[in-house]
Amino acid sequence: MTSTASAPAKVILFGEHFVVYGVGAILCSIDRRVSVSASATGGKKIRISSEMGDATMGLRPEPGEAPHAAPVAFVAREMIRRFGHAGGLDIDIRSEVPPGAGLGSSSACCVAAAAAVSGLFARLPKDEILEIATRAERTILAGASGADGAACTYGGIITYDVKRGAQKLTAAPGIRIIVANSGEAHSTAEMVSRAGLFREENPGVFGELCRKESGLVRRAGDALRAGDARSLGREMSENQSYLERIGVSGRRLREIIGIADMTGYGSKITGAGGGGCIISAAAGRDVAKTMDALRGCGCECFETGIGSRGLDTFLTD
Ligand code: PMV
Repeated sequence: MTSTASAPAKVILFGEHFVVYGVGAILCSIDRRVSVSASATGGKKIRISSEMGDATMGLRPEPGEAPHAAPVAFVAREMIRRFGHAGGLDIDIRSEVPPGAGLGSSSACCVAAAAAVSGLFARLPKDEILEIATRAERTILAGASGADGAACTYGGIITYDVKRGAQKLTAAPGIRIIVANSGEAHSTAEMVSRAGLFREENPGVFGELCRKESGLVRRAGDALRAGDARSLGREMSENQSYLERIGVSGRRLREIIGIADMTGYGSKITGAGGGGCIISAAAGRDVAKTMDALRGCGCECFETGIGSRGLDTFLTD
């Protein structure tokens, strides 16, 4: 039997970095997915295969294991232990999401892996899948807020804070988002520690930015509910100024944002920054103009609706 699950990628519309320190954020799933298939095997090995390479590992963690496979290996071992499985597992990952671009490829992968592997033994509720996926992600980033995994699990648009978790937000239809990839890979851990250092060295400024970000997230929620792309874009530009202040932007990202803002309503980095993607709020005819301009400066970009389906699971013989 093969158990398959697919989870969407996500963008952080508002609140990255500040969410780590308790401020609310808004995220949504997008139209790109990661799909994971799992089957039980007789041997005592976990085999993980993906475009990033194949890794075969034992049932217990060992030094020198492929770091890119570590979160999925954590999920596999957790499920083997939880369900008392006597053998091993074969896990295949297929992704439409560029890695290291701030689109949640690793979170979507952990969520889909937790659902696919558990599906071999039982049908776990989404909350439990998310809990295991979040612990898996914390094997690489101990302080991860858990926001990305929540968006990849539940799909749609959510507000998220570390105390209350995810709450559904219903937006009026019509808002489109352009995602443009700077082509520069980033390290989330490096950028999170850069933001942490800024906070340590500038506690007053950081506290004030957190206060402003909370107000901005409330206004952005209103803009989404009203389907007001112009206000949404304005809040994105404002949010970007806070991210610039804490030092998680970069030259290439600023350049792309400048280009997007010539025809779009406003834009910002999405995710940890330092590389990866930007998002730009768009609607109507200007979408094509903005995309042409971004492609003209060498960016791979795509347009997406916000709030695609969350985690999906199915079994095949
Ligand atoms: O890994 P990324 O690029 O999606 O960024 C994660 C979002 C942060 O707010 C920077 C960290 C977190 O744990 O929420």
